[in-house]
Amino acid sequence: MIGRLNHVAIAVRDIDAAAKVYRETLAAEVSEKVPQPAHGVTTVFVNLPNTKIELLEPLGAGSPIAKFLERNADGGIHHICYEVDDIIAARDKLKGQGARVLGDGEPKIGAHGKPVLFLHPKDFCGTLVELEQA
Ligand code: CO
Repeated sequence: MIGRLNHVAIAVRDIDAAAKVYRETLAAEVSEKVPQPAHGVTTVFVNLPNTKIELLEPLGAGSPIAKFLERNADGGIHHICYEVDDIIAARDKLKGQGARVLGDGEPKIGAHGKPVLFLHPKDFCGTLVELEQA
């Protein structure tokens, strides 16, 4: 069902400092930062040869990563994103196996302009999983 690892998302308090670590210390290709008000985050993408790192900083009140950063003061891995060929078929199959889909269960347009869903970490080895339509 799952295909390529699309990205690993890392929540940070200071996205400029995090981007600098990736750009300068790790010498990676780093995008400009993009505010995503609909998602309550500002994003920076680190483009690696085989996948991406998505740096996330809270944006506005009620950001979905605010609580995570309260628990993880230094930031940390927030979720991993796998590609699927058919997000509706994947959702229905997973739900049929008892997995919990977050929110109203309908795909939303994610940070890359493609439909995404999030799966409950308790059902996936303690890791928040994002599925993205390939
Ligand atoms: Co993501």
